[in-house]
Amino acid sequence: MPFPEVRLRRLRRTPALRALVRETRVAIDDLVLPLFVCPGEGVARPVPSMPGVCQHSVDRLVETCAAAHAEGIRAVLLFGLPEAKDATGSAAWSDDGIVQRALRALKQEVPDLVTIADVCFCEYTDHGHCGVLENGRVANDPTLENLARQAVSLARAGADIVAPSDMMDGRVAAIRRALDAAGLAETPILAYAVKFASAFYGPFREAAESAPSFGDRRGYQMDPANGREALREAALDVEEGADLLMVKPALPYLDVLARLRRRFDLPLAAYHVSGEYAMLKAAAERGWIDHDRVMMESLLAIKRAGADLILTYCARDAARLIRAGWSE
Ligand code: PBG
Repeated sequence: MPFPEVRLRRLRRTPALRALVRETRVAIDDLVLPLFVCPGEGVARPVPSMPGVCQHSVDRLVETCAAAHAEGIRAVLLFGLPEAKDATGSAAWSDDGIVQRALRALKQEVPDLVTIADVCFCEYTDHGHCGVLENGRVANDPTLENLARQAVSLARAGADIVAPSDMMDGRVAAIRRALDAAGLAETPILAYAVKFASAFYGPFREAAESAPSFGDRRGYQMDPANGREALREAALDVEEGADLLMVKPALPYLDVLARLRRRFDLPLAAYHVSGEYAMLKAAAERGWIDHDRVMMESLLAIKRAGADLILTYCARDAARLIRAGWSE
């Protein structure tokens, strides 16, 4: 029965009617806050290209996490800036490494906060690539061993979830095997299953001091043009034992997110990355867009496309609005 009997505007007439028929909501429970931990004490060093984001020393990180947790944030994702870098990124699997120390402090001070530890080497290698180099290329299989060591060390230090972001083939299986052998069978793996070689990571590389010193990451991260390949990546990670899947970046890849949602029943995460955040902040600073509305619309779009979890630097801003009863 078409118009004039059918009028979709009937259910849009008032805020209450719209709320009754709203299909998607962003909840504070969905949000994961990424944070950067650095050496020192009392450090909260702002990242210029990411207004509102800092590199924190362990003490300040604990304060930030306690505050975020008190505001309702349930989970954080940790990236480390080590004291020293080397060719293999060995500081990443040191039991006294920067993220390991942060995890132990957080388990002590904010025990209910879910800690997710990034597993990768680009912040730890002196060349800024995500693994061991052989003839100027990242060598896959030798990197797997190191990833497994890093994951075990992080889980031992208290990581509730480990999240490999390196894009080596076979890493989920290698990490699962190593965790199980180390008596860490309860630690889930959040696989950055579909991670594109994206220019949207620019500000992150400033925050994490992890830009590659030569070349780029296209030899291991995915070609932004490929949607079918994303399904193959995800299927392999599921077979290898991933507990959760991620798509990254988020907004430019909502089609990929929606395809994964249809194909897989695992919990699905989307990473609203640094460049997405920086664009929002920069345009809002100039008064060209309404920050809060664009932010909430972006997060809503990511959920509507199929994400269960959203990793976003906006987590605290969004939580504040949701707590205040945000509704459009
Ligand atoms: C690398 C890693 C990156 C991000 C998360 N993990 C950057 C990269 O691959 O160069 C990017 C996150 C963001 O841009 O917010 N291990």
